[in-house]
Amino acid sequence: MAMWPLWSLLLWEVTGAQVLSKVGDSVLLVAVRPPGFQVREAIWRSLWPSEELLAMFFQGSLETLYHSRFLGRAQLHSNLSLELGPLESADSGNFSMLMVDTRGQTWTQTLQLKVYEPGKHPES
Ligand SMILES: *[C@@H]1O[C@H](CO)[C@@H](O)[C@H](O)[C@H]1NC(C)=O
Ligand SMILES: *[C@@H]1O[C@H](CO)[C@@H](O)[C@H](O)[C@H]1NC(C)=O
Repeated sequence: MAMWPLWSLLLWEVTGAQVLSKVGDSVLLVAVRPPGFQVREAIWRSLWPSEELLAMFFQGSLETLYHSRFLGRAQLHSNLSLELGPLESADSGNFSMLMVDTRGQTWTQTLQLKVYEPGKHPES
């Protein structure tokens, strides 16, 4: 009887990347994946201030037509990076990307987007 190797059960994760962008600009949320990771499915979600599905790669197709607050302003690229824009100040928030590979291993990435008004210091 075959057993799953232990490493296949691990949940890999990177957290906390911060992305700064201006109101009116577009931003690219870059999908980082471990070397050799064969992506079967990928899901971009907004975690906060609202929790919603933004985009998905499933059965070979890219889908962004979810009724999220980014409807019409989100584009999922073939490299799985998600472009959002034009940005509004209310777009600041936390995002997460979950990828599943062909063996069922998962990879999660979270990032924090901070949208600032032109002319204002991003940290103020
Ligand atoms: C958003 O992400 C940042 C950085 O990881 C974290 O410090 C903060 O608590 C998160 N905010 C919420 C509301 O989850
Ligand atoms: C992914 O594709 C977009 C659009 O073609 C490009 O701007 C970006 O540099 C590419 N690479 C990554 C790592 O997102």
